[in-house]
Amino acid sequence: MPTEFSSPIDAITRYCAVYGHPIKHSASPAMQNAGIAALSLNWRYLAFEVHPDNLAAAIAGAKAMKYVGLNLTVPHKLLALPMVDVLDDSAKTWGAVNTIRFESKNKNGMWVPIAEMPADEVSETRSHGFNTDADAITRSLKEDLGVNLKNASVLLLGAGGAGRVTALKLASEGVANLFLVNRTAQKAEDIAAEIRGKHPEISVIVGYPKTSVDLLLNATSLGLKASDPSPLDSTQFELKNARAVYDMIYRPAETLLLAAAKIAGCRTANGIGMLLYQGAKALELWSGKTAPVEIMRHVLEKNIYGQ
Ligand code: ATR
Repeated sequence: MPTEFSSPIDAITRYCAVYGHPIKHSASPAMQNAGIAALSLNWRYLAFEVHPDNLAAAIAGAKAMKYVGLNLTVPHKLLALPMVDVLDDSAKTWGAVNTIRFESKNKNGMWVPIAEMPADEVSETRSHGFNTDADAITRSLKEDLGVNLKNASVLLLGAGGAGRVTALKLASEGVANLFLVNRTAQKAEDIAAEIRGKHPEISVIVGYPKTSVDLLLNATSLGLKASDPSPLDSTQFELKNARAVYDMIYRPAETLLLAAAKIAGCRTANGIGMLLYQGAKALELWSGKTAPVEIMRHVLEKNIYGQ
């Protein structure tokens, strides 16, 4: 499969993009353009710094220009919910939109991905919001860390946007025990109450476990900056009591938490897999083709590890 574009940009090149604020450290353009090239699509994937105040206008602009789709990252995933024309069940279930597919009506009046139609044949269009993050979390936990979530005990650090989706997804996968820890305890309590309502069979506790866990997962932003302390309070929980440790952060590739987890003998993985699988699913939603995951992974690792 080619990893470079076989043809230059021309007048029929189609576009997709990621919007974020900030965006400049995003690895998505490198990963997605590699996938696009490997599929021999005459597309390009761009990145734009979009202030939240301009998000609706930026989505409308992409729709008007017949972009095939968009990815949204911090802080747009919740803001976009009322800004798209239709919400897929994934976006409704997880309460966030990280992927938009633009769609057009075909000759039979059916909504199809806009990429399936030449731009000059497109008339009526709509934006369709999806969430590909939640499935990416569990795919990465299974494929990159070998964790079987059914009946597992999990300690989850963080109850922000990413923490909430992760907690709900873990619950839907049938974990037996979920321990939620967050600086602002009330946010963890709110998520615990939501899960108890939806999954009364799961034991959800706000606070550190007294026993060992199958998985410790960091969904806080602590670790993004070199000066950040570990998100784990080691006086409350010792890493040797976690079989596997996952850090959603991928830049830096090894946070303090992951380095300590390796020393403690835990299986470890960073958030590269999550980024990869959410992006691969987005590319599949836009193109209708199977994403070249290994090529995308290779380019992503090169972008992040600099090898
Ligand atoms: P995201 O969408 O990436 O989840 P977020 O919603 O802002 O971003 O959530 C950030 C998470 O990191 C939260 O769990 C936050 O804790 P609070 O809910 O108490 O804010 C956590 N976090 C950020 N900075 C932190 C810090 N200095 N110490 C502890 N937790 C921190």
